[in-house]
Amino acid sequence: MGEGGLAPLARGRAPVAVEAVVDLERLMKEAISLVASTRPHPNPRVGALVLDPAGRVLSRAAHSGPGKAHAEVAALEAAGEQARGGTLVVTLEPCDHHGRTPPCTEAILAAGIARVLVGAVDPDPRVAGRGLARLRSAGKEVVSGIAAAEVEAQDPAYFYHRRTGRPRVTLKAALTLDGRAAAADGTSQWITSGEAREDAHRLRAEADAVVIGAGTLRADDPLLSVRLEGYEGPQPRAVVVAGRRPLPQTARLWERRPLVLAPAPAGSGGEVVVVPGPGGVDLPAAMAALGERGLLEVLVEGGPTLAGALLRERLVDRGVFYFGARLGGGEGTPALAGPFATLADARAVRMTGARPVGPDLRVEFVVEEV
Ligand SMILES: NC(=O)c1ccc[n+]([C@@H]2O[C@H](COP(=O)([O-])OP(=O)(O)OC[C@H]3O[C@@H](n4cnc5c(N)ncnc54)[C@H](OP(=O)(O)O)[C@@H]3O)[C@@H](O)[C@H]2O)c1
Repeated sequence: MGEGGLAPLARGRAPVAVEAVVDLERLMKEAISLVASTRPHPNPRVGALVLDPAGRVLSRAAHSGPGKAHAEVAALEAAGEQARGGTLVVTLEPCDHHGRTPPCTEAILAAGIARVLVGAVDPDPRVAGRGLARLRSAGKEVVSGIAAAEVEAQDPAYFYHRRTGRPRVTLKAALTLDGRAAAADGTSQWITSGEAREDAHRLRAEADAVVIGAGTLRADDPLLSVRLEGYEGPQPRAVVVAGRRPLPQTARLWERRPLVLAPAPAGSGGEVVVVPGPGGVDLPAAMAALGERGLLEVLVEGGPTLAGALLRERLVDRGVFYFGARLGGGEGTPALAGPFATLADARAVRMTGARPVGPDLRVEFVVEEV
């Protein structure tokens, strides 16, 4: 096998040669690396390479968003006739259905590709193995699941959304070291340093939507936009969970035409979605409504009433808490409102990271499912 070449893959159930496995992993890593800076949500992040029959890379492509060519189709177009008899390396299973674009499987078959190496099976119920089956039934050699965990790690919100129908929810809070989100008079700006707030803007930049409760809109008048020097990426959709009391008419957020999730029809400067529930908005339905709108990665920025309610409804998947270098005291607002009658009520979390940010401490965690 020459430099950059691809060892022949064993067919059927015969063992795959070690060199072939190594090469497969290297190619798949390269395809995964193509998706790093893409923002195609609500579509998945997908990277693809096309190799000629001798194993030379002819083209590379990544998917850039709804209505745009899928990665494998773009790579096949760029490769042209030399791809005939060659190999397609693609991070996610090719689709076999008509969406905004025709099925990728048709393009693969038309290009005369001989074998397809797939990183992960697509969890989207419209795909979920159908793409692989179609290619196999057309006589193509298909190796799938080569890097399932790595591919999912590049786009966890997509996998989560397609499996559950709702967005992956990250709870962000800025707290005093003793866990207070605001003083007794409602002031909370600023508990943490400029460095921590800048870090939080990076979380916003990764999110499709930033959600707050009506209480936070009233108290803080936030814009919920990404304000980072040199940032030119998309702004997350602003979302307000409204309650029974009117929202402030003069809030700055109306400039951004937020989505307003409300328990009853309400006049407001945003797009209103009515999701009535017993204690205000029905939160599971509200999250499903965000999922239906293609908002896969959601950052909840409080306040404590909304955060506590989401946690009780088991709608929080992970959290990033910034602990400011201050001690508040017992009259301040706790990070999470709601009952905590006995220790057994406390939700278990798995700590996934902790590091200083300027004078403050950033703690990351995943909420355990039990
Ligand atoms: N340190 C931080 O990270 C941070 C972050 C955000 C806010 N804050 C502070 O927190 C305070 C505001 O927090 P908050 O707890 O009063 O307000 P909040 O959590 O922002 O909003 C709660 C309100 O949302 C509405 N709502 C509708 N359906 C709901 C449901 N199912 N569950 C929960 N809420 C629902 C209700 O509005 P109605 O009242 O209209 O019925 C409810 O009162 C301010 O002092 C702010 O500065 C701190």
